[in-house]
Amino acid sequence: MALVSTEKMFEMAYNNGYAVGAFNVNNMEITQGIVSAIAEEKAPLILQISRGARQYASMSYLKAIIDVAVKENPDIPICMHLDHGDTFESCKQCVDDGFTSVMIDASHHPFEENIRMTKEVVDYAHKHGVVVEAELGQLGGIEEDVVGVSADDIANHLTDPNQAIEFVEKTGCDSLAVACGTSHGAFKFKSAPALAFDVIQGVADKLAGFPLVMHGSSSVLKEFKDLINKYGGDMPDAMGVPEDAISKAAKMAVCKVNIDTDLRMALTAKIRQVFAETPGEFDPRKYLGPGRDAIQKMVKRKLHVLGCAGKAAECS
Ligand code: G3H
Ligand code: 13P
Ligand code: ZN
Repeated sequence: MALVSTEKMFEMAYNNGYAVGAFNVNNMEITQGIVSAIAEEKAPLILQISRGARQYASMSYLKAIIDVAVKENPDIPICMHLDHGDTFESCKQCVDDGFTSVMIDASHHPFEENIRMTKEVVDYAHKHGVVVEAELGQLGGIEEDVVGVSADDIANHLTDPNQAIEFVEKTGCDSLAVACGTSHGAFKFKSAPALAFDVIQGVADKLAGFPLVMHGSSSVLKEFKDLINKYGGDMPDAMGVPEDAISKAAKMAVCKVNIDTDLRMALTAKIRQVFAETPGEFDPRKYLGPGRDAIQKMVKRKLHVLGCAGKAAECS
């Protein structure tokens, strides 16, 4: 099977109360860990590439790695998605490069400008059979290439359900990332984690049948946080979205759940552990290998949290 768009995946996910995992890829080991998990669990898959990933690994290497994943897994629907495209040009480039889905994230622009930029991308992408994710409202957290609102300000930038219907009608986008209390990175909450499920439901009520996307959805798993802190790391206050909250959102209108931080932490935890326990180790296969295995195990578990394990065939 060639790369697919998210159309069928989202239709099935929406109708059957699950979400598809969208995992960020930056190198071969991360991709292999994810893909071996979905192959074992027979789940549909979205592999997403950020601007930072393209700068780090180059598009041609990442595309070649994904092409191998597609070829080796003919029974698994795999979508190649641009994560947080920031301009028409960057989205156009990805459409031209063979992506089957792109995100235009103009959420930090005023409402009318967000509509204008999104519509421009939709017009081009749809002409080429590519679907478009847009974003309304703003997430918190800061990563390399994605700058969000401050933690104290997240509640003031949640998606407004009344704007969502106008936004989708005017842009023609295919899915919508909503701000519902999550943020990017490993430090999502200062106190008890809480998602604004009323925002998800509010948008869903206005847009019946329309797929929503949840960014910033890593759980910051205790296993990896503890290993990182035990072996010389320093992230004691890291906190993510609890897995039961992810499962709850996946049963609602959320059809795509974005996960990057949990991959980073799994890999980092294992590398730190190998270095601490075997200080003489200098063969990258001996520390990247355990990192890749940890990613595989973690992603397998996620697919059950999302409810998409075993759903590859119905999404094909
Ligand atoms: O949404 C952010 C993703 O985790 C990508 O992060 O821009 O550092 O690759 P990045
Ligand atoms: P996390 O930082 O929670 O993994 O979110 C990733 C993301 O939203 C990528 O777009
Ligand atoms: Zn994101």
